[in-house]
Amino acid sequence: MKGIILAGGLGTRLYPLTKVTNKHLLPVYDKPMIYYPIQSLINAGIRDILVVTGGNNAGDFLRLLGNGSEFGLEHINYTYQVGEGGIAEALGLARYFAAGDRICVVLGDNIIENNFVAAARGFLDQERGARILLREVHDPRRFGVPVFEGDRIVRIEEKPKEPRSRFAVTGIYFYDNTVFDIIGTLKPSDRGELEITDVNNAYIERGELRWDALDGWWTDAGTFESLLRANRLVSETGANKITAASPGV
Ligand code: G1P
Repeated sequence: MKGIILAGGLGTRLYPLTKVTNKHLLPVYDKPMIYYPIQSLINAGIRDILVVTGGNNAGDFLRLLGNGSEFGLEHINYTYQVGEGGIAEALGLARYFAAGDRICVVLGDNIIENNFVAAARGFLDQERGARILLREVHDPRRFGVPVFEGDRIVRIEEKPKEPRSRFAVTGIYFYDNTVFDIIGTLKPSDRGELEITDVNNAYIERGELRWDALDGWWTDAGTFESLLRANRLVSETGANKITAASPGV
């Protein structure tokens, strides 16, 4: 399985912090933000990694990460998203890197306390389709929110005014290679972007979306409030822990 980190966008919700740099290069406690999703993938046993970036500061990723030796990697891949076409458009750029393999996608501002080894194993046991990770949150309106019938997700609503559950869809997704065909069929949303939620809804329509609950804390870091929260959580408890129950895939 290959890993893809989506680290593009203009980070306008963090302006002026993002006026002269990319959101994913900002500090979260003692490391640049992008270090956390890279470590998340590595902890799940994924070492073939692509970083999709964009904007004016793309060169800084190369200066920061080089070939990934700081993470014990021999190589890291990069690609560039022109403009602000959304998460699903950025993922579409990974088609050639994926080259038919299954992929694990992590949004570059998602930070976790533990790891998602169990979900990665579960996905590898699936014959096909997609798998997402959910986490209960206090403010689901900021996220993709699943609508349940029993244990089954029947729909995901993006930033609903009246959330139908208390779960957020985290920015950690597993997809088979048909994801790239799905992306090809998407139409831009009201905010002019190709939405990852539409990708997940397409898998739901096919009856091919499974889910797990993520244990430990989870946060994004794309707003002032969540960036502060991320700093606090990482400094107080540490991130990317490898637990005895899940030593690697
Ligand atoms: C994106 C997704 C949303 C998901 C969130 C997780 O939101 O669109 O469904 O819950 O990431 O971080 P955004 O950060 O673009 O607002």
